[in-house]
Amino acid sequence: MSAIPSQVLVTESSPRDGLQSLGALVPTEAKARLIDDLSVAGIKSFDAVSFVNPKAVPQMADGAGVIAAVQNREGVELGGLVPNMKGFEAAIEAGVDTIGLLTAASDEFNQRNINATVDEAMHRIRRILLEVPRGVATRSYISTATHCPFEGDQDPDWVAHLAGTLVEWGSDTVYLGDTIGKATPSHIEILLEHVLEEVPVEKVGIHLHDTYGQALANTTVALEHGVARMDTSAGGLGGCPYAPGATGNLATEDLLYMLDGMGIEHGARLPDVARVARDFCEEQGLDYNSRAGKALLASQERE
Ligand code: HMG
Ligand code: MG
Repeated sequence: MSAIPSQVLVTESSPRDGLQSLGALVPTEAKARLIDDLSVAGIKSFDAVSFVNPKAVPQMADGAGVIAAVQNREGVELGGLVPNMKGFEAAIEAGVDTIGLLTAASDEFNQRNINATVDEAMHRIRRILLEVPRGVATRSYISTATHCPFEGDQDPDWVAHLAGTLVEWGSDTVYLGDTIGKATPSHIEILLEHVLEEVPVEKVGIHLHDTYGQALANTTVALEHGVARMDTSAGGLGGCPYAPGATGNLATEDLLYMLDGMGIEHGARLPDVARVARDFCEEQGLDYNSRAGKALLASQERE
């Protein structure tokens, strides 16, 4: 087991994963302002938008507009998730800094999500990786890395094989997605033991949804294995339109509170992140779901 990292990269997924399932369209300017306000609060990496079929996910139809409307680009990395070559070309045209590539471990979820088997999605990714311009970073997501809503438990050996292959093909990093938030610390432990046989720890990230309330415990296991890249969503916003019942990612504020307590650097200011996310949720009529954020804001209001 590696040493617990002294610093982690927190990537903020609220503008993309946090909003993609919402029926009511959030205005482009409000999405860009969320990114700007969170970057002022110290978050420098964003899973900002996706370039997918707007008929499938109407909320993400304005990806290029969001990227163009972000004011503060200094030191800020904006990511665009792409399911195919068309999305990749749109993302590069829009000027993203990072391309998020997409497969699942399970065929059934992948078919429903991006209309491709795992094999087909892997080959799409391979073709895209060959086209990525210099200076644009790549991260590959493996969704349903522990559980699939349709096929159940996933084989960690298979996920490790996919992760190793993606890195071998040139993906800078690989993010393991617990898409439906069902994993417990034992699942993450076993998964990482397999994946870290194939991929150096500095290239591995986690993308955990908090549906069953396990994401923070699972993050601790990842930290104990030396993983220093994690996606979270301010206010706990989110879910996946193709994963029934799945709720948002681990709330950014909950992670920051734990990292602060453990003395692990992340560069963001928790009270500012909480205020920005709470205000965004109020403005858009959304539930604010960070436990640490709620507690902190309530204690500040009592002072
Ligand atoms: P398809 O039907 O196989 O695509 O869908 P197609 O190539 O046959 O094209 C159908 C239509 O889509 C055409 O338009 C294309 O132009 C258009 P029409 O002729 O009907 O007007 N199209 C596109 N438009 C914009 N951008 C594109 C694009 N590609 C085709 N890139 C496709 C395949 C992947 C497009 C579709 O299934 C899709 O868009 N799926 C959306 C999936 C999605 O956004 N899921 C949520 C994100 S994944 C996630 O949340 C998991 C993650 O968070 C990790 C985790 O939690 O585990 C990352
Ligand atoms: Mg997700």
